[in-house]
Amino acid sequence: MMATMAIPQQKTAIETIDLSVAYNGKPALRGVSLAFPENAVTALIGPSGCGKSTLLRALNRMNDRIPNAEMTGRVLLKGRDIYDRRINLTRLRREVGMVFQKPNPFPMSIFENVALGPRLHYGLRGRALQEVVEDALRKAALWDEVKDELSKSGLALSGGQQQRLCIARMLAVQPQILLMDEPCSALDPISTQKIEELITELGKQYTVIVVTHNLQQAARISHYTGFLMYGEVVEWGETRQLFERPARAETEDYIHGRFG
Ligand SMILES: Nc1ncnc2c1ncn2[C@@H]1O[C@H](COP(=O)(O)OP(=O)(O)OP(=O)(O)O)[C@@H](O)[C@H]1O
Ligand SMILES: [Mg+2]
Repeated sequence: MMATMAIPQQKTAIETIDLSVAYNGKPALRGVSLAFPENAVTALIGPSGCGKSTLLRALNRMNDRIPNAEMTGRVLLKGRDIYDRRINLTRLRREVGMVFQKPNPFPMSIFENVALGPRLHYGLRGRALQEVVEDALRKAALWDEVKDELSKSGLALSGGQQQRLCIARMLAVQPQILLMDEPCSALDPISTQKIEELITELGKQYTVIVVTHNLQQAARISHYTGFLMYGEVVEWGETRQLFERPARAETEDYIHGRFG
């Protein structure tokens, strides 16, 4: 097992301690201990099947929904164990939001997609609700494109706009941590660039953890990078250091395309 490698002077937002996950008894994560720094972007990279999505899902208990998934170890959100049975799951998923590879807007208007959460969680109505919706759409860099057609269906937007709508929907409930699982892999280069700029901007205010197969993207947008193989953390460090001076031969091979 690798030790937790926290970067000094950077507060930890969420951390895993000796986290293992198995599906039908087959290990997908083995003893992962990682501390994700607050208000920074962390990229998770590694070959297909190495456990990146499993790790991301463990951070807001999405694996709970997968039958035959078994977990040991702990996940601490600001020091609090999210697997404690007293934890309120609705509140946890609000605090630790997630967007997926394929944008999944609800089949309702752009406005409703974003308004639903704050209305449900905070009982917002009228002007206050409108303000929260506008603010979330602005933060997601979508407002200017949709402000005149908020009643249009979210499904009528382009793929890149739909992804930003999903990000706005997540931001509207005031999360602390944003989990993104290959958020650009279904997008064209221009939408990808917009999402990358957005992630960089969000990283100033939120703890962002993003899974990507695009190594140039990881290098561009993240402050820290974790490299996984076969369910284990091979290397973790500041992104620049990991890409320019990797400590492990496996990392060097992977970032130079000599693996898989
Ligand atoms: N719901 C599931 N049921 C059974 N096995 C699963 C399930 N989800 C993932 N696995 C297995 O767990 C391992 C890790 O999968 P995971 O999806 O976390 O990998 P990944 O790194 O996200 O891969 P990719 O880059 O292809 O998305 C794989 O061997 C996968 O087959
Ligand atoms: Mg995955």
